Parts: sequence; structure tokens; C-alpha cells
Amino acid sequence: MAARPTLLRLDRVLANLGYATRSTAAGLLRDGRVLVDGVEMRDAATKVDPQAVTLDGEPLDHPCGVLVALHKPAGLVCSHDESEGPLVYDLLPFRWTARTPVVTSAGRLDKDTSGILILTDDSPLVHRLTSPKHHVTKEYEAILDRPVPADAVEAFASGTLTLRNENRPCAPADLAVTGERTCTVTMTEGRYHQVRRMFSAIGAEVESLHRRVFGPWRLGVNGLDLAPGEWCDINPPQ
Ligand code: URA
Repeated sequence: MAARPTLLRLDRVLANLGYATRSTAAGLLRDGRVLVDGVEMRDAATKVDPQAVTLDGEPLDHPCGVLVALHKPAGLVCSHDESEGPLVYDLLPFRWTARTPVVTSAGRLDKDTSGILILTDDSPLVHRLTSPKHHVTKEYEAILDRPVPADAVEAFASGTLTLRNENRPCAPADLAVTGERTCTVTMTEGRYHQVRRMFSAIGAEVESLHRRVFGPWRLGVNGLDLAPGEWCDINPPQ
């Protein structure tokens, strides 16, 4: 049986999806710009299915929530704070910044890291994707400033590698050497700058870091075909 749509007050639908405030919604309704199931609707309090609403003849954007994968380019920050520099949110429709609930990233990539980033307004899903309890797989491609240290595979797999200023060792991570200075790291933890700090702990610096996989989603071959800066809708994980 198909899930029944959640009915919400019409002015709340327009406000939650970033088209108006509760008070400016009244103006849109008064001007006859809003239809529900093709019928002009002027009563802000009427409970409606957001999917049935049009504004100026157009269906509302993502009426049932946002879940997207973004190919984050290096140089953007995963923050809502403009003072931190260009934001990943600048790559998404501007109207989304006014949505309630807020669209946010499931975890973060640091400014210099590129790759797959999941953004959604579904906070239980954010929790599921970021909670250490759920062991979501992340796969990173790293380019180091020197040849991959001879002990890297063993150190990453050991479960005893400890990051600077931390006491609890990192969970085992899988490191596959792909070239003299390049490797792929697969891990389930997501501590602050973890990959860079794991390499620092064994005496190497990361020059470039790209996340290829996050949970069930992969960028590139056999995955999402997104150029840097592009995003697409995705389905919730099973
Ligand atoms: N590890 C890092 O060092 N940076 C990231 O952005 C993600 C994982």
C-alpha cells in the first residue's frame, strides 16, 4: 500500500519549501498564484498534500524532502557559515537555504577534500549515516607527499594507530597501495580530518584527498556520473 501523503497547512507548505514566509504566503494566495489539484486556493489554513500544489503553474520543488549526492570540489566548506568561505550549499538551489527542516550534509569533508557528499533534510537519516554505531563505509583516494610508507598497510589495519591528541586508537582501516604515492583507504570511522591525521601518524602528509564512496553511493565508474560541483537526487538506502 502506498504511504499516505502528510497533509500540511498550505501556508506552511510554501514556507517550509522556501517559497515564502508564513506571512508572504498570504500574498501569493491572494494573487491567485497557488493551485491545489489544479484549483485556485486562497485559504492558507487548508491542509494539502505538498505534491498537489503548484505556484505560477509549476509544481513545488522537492515537495517530499531532499536527498542528494554532490560531487564536492576542493575549496568549498561544509558549513552554513558564509564567513568560512565558499559553501557547498552555494552549489544547491538558493531556495533550499530557506527550507525547513534545513538541508544539511551527512558528515563533512574538509575544505581541501573533494568527492561524494550526501545532503538531506532528513535528520534521522543523517544520524544513521554518521553515527559510529552504523559503521558506514567510506572510501578515499589519497595522494601522499612521499612514497606510501612500507608499514602503512599494517599500521592502518592494526587497530592500534593513535591520532595526535587522542587516546582511543582508530578502528582498523584497509589501505590498498595503487601507485608509488597513491593509495585507497576504506574505513568506517569518521573522525575530524581522520585520513590526513592517520597518515601524519605514520610520517606522511596527504597532498590530495578524494572520497569515492560513502555508504551505498559511489562516484564514477559503476556509480554516479557527476562532474565536480554537480549533484543529483538519490534514493534512501535500504
Ligand atoms: N579524512 C580527512 O582527513 N578529510 C576528510 O575530508 C575526510 C576524511
